[in-house]
Amino acid sequence: MALPALASYPPPAVSQPLDTAALPLPAADFERVRRLIHQRAGIHLQSGKEAMVHSRLSRLLREHGLPSFAAYLDELERSGTEPMWQQFVNALTTNLTSFFREEHHFTALAELLRHKAQGVRVWCNAASTGEEPYSLAMVLAESLPANAPFSLLCTDIDTQVLATARRGVYPADARGLSPERLKRHFLRGTGANAGQIRIKPDLAKRLSFEPFNLIGNQWGRFTEPFDIVFCRNVMIYFDATTQKRVLAAIHQTLKPGGLLFAGHSENFSDEKQLFKSRGKTMYERL
Ligand SMILES: C[S@@+](CC[C@H](N)C(=O)[O-])C[C@H]1O[C@@H](n2cnc3c(N)ncnc32)[C@H](O)[C@@H]1O
Repeated sequence: MALPALASYPPPAVSQPLDTAALPLPAADFERVRRLIHQRAGIHLQSGKEAMVHSRLSRLLREHGLPSFAAYLDELERSGTEPMWQQFVNALTTNLTSFFREEHHFTALAELLRHKAQGVRVWCNAASTGEEPYSLAMVLAESLPANAPFSLLCTDIDTQVLATARRGVYPADARGLSPERLKRHFLRGTGANAGQIRIKPDLAKRLSFEPFNLIGNQWGRFTEPFDIVFCRNVMIYFDATTQKRVLAAIHQTLKPGGLLFAGHSENFSDEKQLFKSRGKTMYERL
């Protein structure tokens, strides 16, 4: 009896997509992630964030075709390119933001700006997807005396959110925008862009966007001091030592009398040598 041909034995391997949901994230790998993101971004990942790390890094494992978290971290540490490290940082930042978040800052700022005929230099760091710097830009345009110049530098460590910020396109029902501001500062999309809004080009061109790591060594690039620095809802991710270091560096970038705006749960009133409190989470540089 003729035997069946064996040409197809063993059966050809079928490459299955990696089921990362089922992959374990061993405690040792979670600790490695914590150490690496702390070194790179200053972010102090609390224990209990395992599920978050699992879901955010799973995508990168799949993308790089690596079979485990350990294999991914080995690759990153042994031969991680700058784009691979950037991708790791981008995946682990938390970018929650909205237009006119913590509105009291914008109200206070509007009042101060009315007297700044000489104009202002503003830095919005940890700017995320742009809602915060565009809120600032709207207030600058609305409140500065006519023809007073302003510049607005927007930075973030996360290059992906920065790309969104640079684009300046948001859903038309984005939280925090009044109908007046929608009309004055945004264009409404039509056709394929219906439901979207874009910041008007005249205002958009006043902003510049650059990556900047608050715990990096690029502080020397600020040759001219700022009148106003927004650094909100990022220091909460840093430990006390890192916060102190970043605050001292921000102090150096501000003009004496310049203002620092912090996030709602960030309290720097212990830094009496550097800043004087000017109301709820607003500080004046000494
Ligand atoms: C929660 S968001 C805050 C956004 C905005 N400032 C606000 O208050 O709505 C925190 C931002 O800080 C950025 N970030 C985290 N670590 C950073 C670092 N070391 N340097 C600069 N930005 C950082 C993140 O990428 C993220 O966009």
